Amino acid sequence: MTNRKDDHVKEAAANYGEIKTSDFDHVRFVHQSIGQLAEEDIDLSSHWLGQDFPLPFYINAMTGGSTWTKEINGRLAHLARELKVPMASGSLSAALRDPKQEDSFRIIREIYLDGFVLANVGADRDGQDAKRAVEILQADALQVHLNLPQEIVMPEGDRDFRKIKDHLLDIQAQVDVPIVVKEVGFGMSRESMEELAQLGFSTLDISGRGGTNFAQIENQRRADQDFAELFDWGQTTVVSLLEASQLREDLTILASGGIRQPLDLVKALSLGAQAVGMSGYFLQLVLNHDLETSVQKVQNFIEKTKLIYLLLNCRNSQELKHLDLILSDGPWHWAQLRGIDAQALAQRSQSKSQD
Ligand SMILES: Cc1cc2nc3c(=O)[nH]c(=O)nc-3n(C[C@H](O)[C@H](O)[C@H](O)COP(=O)(O)O)c2cc1C
Repeated sequence: MTNRKDDHVKEAAANYGEIKTSDFDHVRFVHQSIGQLAEEDIDLSSHWLGQDFPLPFYINAMTGGSTWTKEINGRLAHLARELKVPMASGSLSAALRDPKQEDSFRIIREIYLDGFVLANVGADRDGQDAKRAVEILQADALQVHLNLPQEIVMPEGDRDFRKIKDHLLDIQAQVDVPIVVKEVGFGMSRESMEELAQLGFSTLDISGRGGTNFAQIENQRRADQDFAELFDWGQTTVVSLLEASQLREDLTILASGGIRQPLDLVKALSLGAQAVGMSGYFLQLVLNHDLETSVQKVQNFIEKTKLIYLLLNCRNSQELKHLDLILSDGPWHWAQLRGIDAQALAQRSQSKSQD
């Protein structure tokens, strides 16, 4: 039998870049002709989980649990250390099942000694397991992932979701580092986010559709039945952020899913995200390039992000959140039907000047 994690990496890397259009193309800024800032005024820092980070993005959950993915975790950890960005491990399920796999995760902490590292488990795990996952990585925070569509398409997937809420509460009771509840590329609805907030979770990574597609990846792993009809399941990252815009302001929203380029990242921040996670992007970097080249490519990404802030006349990500945004196509349609005020979003800079 092949290793599931190795399959995921192989398929994710093969599918990367397949999506050429995205809901981010249906979110536009309003260009203003008179600039007021210089590049040196731009501050890309982000603040979430009670910490300040120099950059607005992080390496999101991916690997661990096999020899190959140990090596990938090592490369990702070196990159995270160079860039000083937070890094999440893949689900520690494999290590909880088989302690021999622990070192494929521990390598992250060995390399990124003083870095901000997040452990990851699924909501099929209870508080004891989650606590163990945090210990293995000496993690600074824990991600708990929700992935119903992936389980449904996965040949060996879970067929009983009755314990999810109990597990979430048990994890919350037993784990003493901050918790992020995340999706895995299917997005979140306002209702799910409200429910998570009521359960006491205040940091959510909406991880929406538009990038790595686990319905497709799991389908590629099965020969008996074809689940292609579920490839489009879920809310895109843009739509999930629109859904989140109707929530209490004290929730911290992180965005991931299909961030292809700096402009997508800046749009996600402008739509309300505190920071942005990328998985597919970092995976293809470390699979195809050495550390030096990968660092250089991310430096170019950072430089371009800064220039887009400058073009938008914004000093920091807080200012991005007051820019007018014009929705079209799918996101506009979704907003109309879900009672999200697209017109107010298109004119929100005016309400700021009245503050
Ligand atoms: C190879 C691979 C493995 C992943 N494994 C996990 C995982 O173990 N736990 C998890 O929460 N998310 C996992 N994800 C999902 C990502 O964290 C992220 O939510 C999703 O890939 C969308 O982001 P992207 O479009 O930037 O890749 C994985 C993604 C990839 C590419």
